[in-house]
Amino acid sequence: MKLNLVYLLLLSQLTFILAAFMDIVEKSMWIEQKVDHFNKSDKRTWQMQYLASDTFFKPGGPIIININAEWEMVPKNHFFGMYFELVEIFNAYAFETEHRYYGRSWPVQNMTVENLQYLTTRQVLADLAHFIRQQKATIPEIANSKVIMIGCSYAANLVTYFRKDYPELIDGGWAAGAGLAYRLDYSDGYVSAGKSLRKFGGDACYDRVEHFSKTFLNHKRQKSDTYKMLKLLNLAEYFEDMRSIILVHAQHRNATGMQKLCKNITSVDPKNINEFGRLLKLFQSQTVIDHTDKVKMINFNPKYAARQNFYQTCSEFGDIFSTSSRHQPFGDTHPFGKQVAKCKEVFGPKFTIDYISGKVDEITAKYGAQHPNVDHIYFTKAEDDPWRWAGITDECATIIPGIGHCKELRARAPTDWPTTSAAQQKAIDLIRDWINGNGTTRETLIKC
Ligand SMILES: *[C@@H]1O[C@H](CO)[C@@H](O)[C@H](O)[C@H]1NC(C)=O
Ligand SMILES: *[C@@H]1O[C@H](CO)[C@@H](O)[C@H](O)[C@H]1NC(C)=O
Ligand SMILES: *[C@@H]1O[C@H](CO)[C@@H](O)[C@H](O)[C@H]1NC(C)=O
Ligand SMILES: *[C@@H]1O[C@H](CO)[C@@H](O)[C@H](O)[C@H]1NC(C)=O
Ligand SMILES: *[C@@H]1O[C@H](CO)[C@@H](O)[C@H](O)[C@H]1NC(C)=O
Repeated sequence: MKLNLVYLLLLSQLTFILAAFMDIVEKSMWIEQKVDHFNKSDKRTWQMQYLASDTFFKPGGPIIININAEWEMVPKNHFFGMYFELVEIFNAYAFETEHRYYGRSWPVQNMTVENLQYLTTRQVLADLAHFIRQQKATIPEIANSKVIMIGCSYAANLVTYFRKDYPELIDGGWAAGAGLAYRLDYSDGYVSAGKSLRKFGGDACYDRVEHFSKTFLNHKRQKSDTYKMLKLLNLAEYFEDMRSIILVHAQHRNATGMQKLCKNITSVDPKNINEFGRLLKLFQSQTVIDHTDKVKMINFNPKYAARQNFYQTCSEFGDIFSTSSRHQPFGDTHPFGKQVAKCKEVFGPKFTIDYISGKVDEITAKYGAQHPNVDHIYFTKAEDDPWRWAGITDECATIIPGIGHCKELRARAPTDWPTTSAAQQKAIDLIRDWINGNGTTRETLIKC
């Protein structure tokens, strides 16, 4: 036991030293991209940020690209986890790409609705295609290198779609926690969060949350004195924080966090509105969630992703987290109708339910949702992840118990459960096959 701990400490220190060393050699760079890849007469260009390192590269080695998505790509966080290990194992030329409209990769001056029209999956994939062609054309050592992509969550979708649209440019990919099935109303998310709440927080906590939601916060009962009182005290919105925190704990499979939270929740007398008010006040004091309406801020800020993200929701993906299902404990506190109406409110009258629904149908038809019919992609999903149900069908993925969303991309550790280690090893083995060009093992040929 003790020995294990020492070993762990040593290992973490070693990783730290290596990572610190790598910080010096990975460079932040910029590549010119077209604003609109599909309009020949539109000559506008912009600079996309990426990171590059040849520290581990040996001639004949592959290119490994870590795809960043709806967040800021922070250089000092690079070279972490499995990406780092894969680059080292395969002597790869390493790249990380930033997603257009996020971080510092700004195709346009601001995010007016007019300017957001180039934020589409098609344009994002075209950025990646140009990126690979350009790197191969300008760096002779990697002109013939195999290309491997890895990504988590929405970035995993991009890896999958890239293999479908540009199979000649990618030899294999690892899609962790991909949410491939878009639905206008993603009510499974809260159903799954409720299951985690029950699993980690216990039945009493689940029941208490359900009781609060149904008696105190039912939107259909907004005329009730209780609701009016909570509104008056500005407390109703803090219930949203409670719901969001439960969701975050579920996504990260944070059992400790959930248990702590539940201790507070279950200590409240369910009949006593004042005590409930006090509980909500707790969330008021936790500055986890910022209630300023960032979806309405049209200027770019590397730290904010709310408006871009919401635009993708309203213009392509749907996947609106709602409390539409009866099989979740949050009552009617996050109704679909209200969420979807916000698209119109923020982006204009064009963004009706029918419009969004049409867009969701379009992307579903194009990429096949849970049946993407793609090969050379390794899919992994965390068992308790609220996104699991939007992922590829279970038969086509490795389901990993005991970890949260995308955690299989963390560095390998001696404390990992065997199922996690096995999935990571399988990814390494598949990638080796793809790099050697003889990916004839059965798995790599299965079309999922
Ligand atoms: C293509 O670009 C040109 C020049 O910027 C512009 O006038 C035209 O409206 C664009 N066409 C489409 C379909 O966006
Ligand atoms: C947004 O950017 C466009 C150029 O793309 C510019 O013409 C317009 O004035 C900007 N709008 C605001 C509100 O900053
Ligand atoms: C779990 O939740 C607690 C809050 O209760 C937080 O302090 C902690 O960082 C979380 N752990 C992880 C791994 O997210
Ligand atoms: C639970 O309540 C105590 C005070 O009553 C507070 O200090 C603590 O932060 C609360 N924990 C959570 C997870 O809200
Ligand atoms: C795959 O190719 C590599 C290198 O060409 C070779 O060493 C290896 O034996 C091959 N593996 C299989 C299973 O054919």
